[in-house]
Amino acid sequence: MEKKIVLLPGDGIGAEVINSSKEVLNAIANKFGHSFQFESHDIGGVAVDTHGTPLPDETVEACKGADAVLLGAVGGPKWDQLPSHLRPERGLLGIRKALDLFANLRPVKGFEKLLHASPLKETVINGSDLLIVRELTGGLYFGEPSERRDNGNAVVDTLSYTRKEIERIVDKGFQSAQLRKKKLTSVDKANVLESSKLWREIVEEKKADYPDVEVDHVLVDAAAMKLITNPDQFDVIVTENMFGDILSDEASVLTGSLGMLPSASLAENGVGLYEPAHGSAPDIAGKGIANPIAMILSAALMLRYSFGLDKEALQIEAAVEHVVNDGYYTADLQVENGTLLNTVEMTEQIAKYIDNGYFYG
Ligand code: NAD
Ligand code: IPM
Ligand code: MN
Repeated sequence: MEKKIVLLPGDGIGAEVINSSKEVLNAIANKFGHSFQFESHDIGGVAVDTHGTPLPDETVEACKGADAVLLGAVGGPKWDQLPSHLRPERGLLGIRKALDLFANLRPVKGFEKLLHASPLKETVINGSDLLIVRELTGGLYFGEPSERRDNGNAVVDTLSYTRKEIERIVDKGFQSAQLRKKKLTSVDKANVLESSKLWREIVEEKKADYPDVEVDHVLVDAAAMKLITNPDQFDVIVTENMFGDILSDEASVLTGSLGMLPSASLAENGVGLYEPAHGSAPDIAGKGIANPIAMILSAALMLRYSFGLDKEALQIEAAVEHVVNDGYYTADLQVENGTLLNTVEMTEQIAKYIDNGYFYG
């Protein structure tokens, strides 16, 4: 299979871990006889520096013409004081909107060997395996904010959703549950927010279309608590943009580190973008110690969702699992009695396990 993949390294550790995904994909191409062509483009702070905008038109065009996109991360202290429209994060929101990537799938699954690497008790996280389906192109992030009022002392952000926007993400939640344990938890704040009331109504309406899926509603504050006290009650969580953002970083604690959490950002039709849940990690950027696993697992999601290469995706996931279970770890993981690796070494180890055919399944 021949595919053109656009790489958007971005800033900080984004640029470090994107190389890891490329190396692992090369190992997969070698082993399974595929040809992946890579093309890098600027986004985020690096694009502000070189093009004067966090999302150059040529980057958008390149993504639209690609078979899939891999994104590292954007942002950093260097650009924090810029006006809103020039912030690196605007580039990320812009590309999500331009490609209509309304569904962000964030699987959260711990590895046996890392159960003790979480600050949570092993008995609590054992058996947890969930998927957060986060709405990605609506809500507070995209409602036009007001001008500063009251001499700069008041401002309004807008949380807005249309029926259509809610319907398509709720459908995605139900469909994802059908492929898993058939349990859907819709997370909202329907005791306060109008948008959540509409959200809950739509989930109730949609139930009839998916009679095999068991559904419940949980308020977001309680969901935050349940996620770390009894995570194995969850299968698929569907929720609006900002709730999903916050809950997914929280859920990463189940896996031992934010550096383990991949994601797929999908459109109804059209190109998909794959990005770790973490950011540019300015505190460790440039040190070569970032955990590349979130990025590498995002590449596996790309193979599965954009190219239909399930066997190849499973091969990456199996290699990661073997490496972790053999005691290799990066500095973000609190592993006892293992082998500490840097980003490049971890990547090579995973690529080696792929070459050696540590099998999937
Ligand atoms: P962050 O995710 O960058 O880092 C949070 C903490 O987790 C840090 O201590 C960091 O070192 C650690 N961490 C994250 N990923 C890691 C990895 N792969 N390996 C090892 N440790 C890892 O969040 P932040 O510090 O709040 O934000 C930093 C910048 O990143 C901000 O500019 C923010 O806007 C941006 N950001 C971008 C994205 C994205 O591009 N998708 C996501 C989140 C944050
Ligand atoms: C993420 C990030 C982004 C988000 C930021 C950087 C805009 O936190 O991908 O989770 O909130 O969506
Ligand atoms: Mn986030």
